Amino acid sequence: MIIFFSGTGNSERVARRLSALLDDTNTVRLEGDLLLNPGGADLDADESGRIIWIFPTYSWGVPPVVARFISECVIKPSAKRARHYMVTTCGDDMADTDRQWRRLLVRRGLDARGAFAVIMPNTYVLMKGFNTDAPGLAKAKLDASEERVREIARAIASDAPSSLIRGSSAWIKSHVIYPWFIRHAMSPKPFHADGGCIGCGICAKGCPMENITMENSMPVWGEKCAMCLRCYHYCPRHAVAYGNKTDGKGQWQCPQ
Ligand SMILES: Cc1cc2nc3c(=O)[nH]c(=O)nc-3n(C[C@H](O)[C@H](O)[C@H](O)COP(=O)(O)O)c2cc1C
Ligand code: SF4
Ligand code: SF4
Repeated sequence: MIIFFSGTGNSERVARRLSALLDDTNTVRLEGDLLLNPGGADLDADESGRIIWIFPTYSWGVPPVVARFISECVIKPSAKRARHYMVTTCGDDMADTDRQWRRLLVRRGLDARGAFAVIMPNTYVLMKGFNTDAPGLAKAKLDASEERVREIARAIASDAPSSLIRGSSAWIKSHVIYPWFIRHAMSPKPFHADGGCIGCGICAKGCPMENITMENSMPVWGEKCAMCLRCYHYCPRHAVAYGNKTDGKGQWQCPQ
């Protein structure tokens, strides 16, 4: 069984590839009610006896909505007996994301077996100095990810050891910057649509948190944001902005 969360499609692409390579067609996308009301969701493993968690790295840690799902879902006995694996996608490195994920699982009495990372095109654009990758770099990352995902599929199938991309200063990134980021850099307040908006509603329909409503043919952002940036990257008019932090920044939509 594969459970994935994805904003701009990178983690979804990895989930779909792993599903095909492992012949594991039971895939669940974390979105809507599963994220808004995780306490109402059952975590029930299937006959594979394996659950693979796939999600992007957010500020060198587990996306808060995924952490909340793991912490609050109802754990069924089959999930307790299952072997759990994590695959995170990151633009550069994951630091100690795997350790956070392991702690979350151990607290729920789950068996965290292995963790893996795949480098994918960067999607974070909300701070100075952060932008999408140039097309050549994005393509090179996607090409390299194909073999990386095959390696991960082989490792999961044979219970081989974890394979991580920690990068430098991992402890500071995950233990100092991550908590700061969650507290101070995840506000949806600066989101707005600029004059290029045509009122198509794509941003509202695609939001995994159902956080955008259309009012007078313009999107309005609520408070339940996962900071996945799908609304920004999938706007066909590039009309979603975050204060002035996204001025001149690129967009990314992962081909499936
Ligand atoms: C809020 C946010 C924080 C991010 N933080 C990191 C990070 O700490 N390290 C990193 O390498 N990439 C980071 N990224 C980039 C994503 O992890 C990466 O592009 C990922 O593959 C996106 O997956 P998705 O398309 O499934 O949403 C971040 C992206 C977002 C939106
Ligand atoms: S996706 Fe873009 S153009 Fe469409 S409603 Fe949202 S902001 Fe406007
Ligand atoms: S409002 Fe935008 S960034 Fe926030 S969860 Fe919805 S799509 Fe993602």
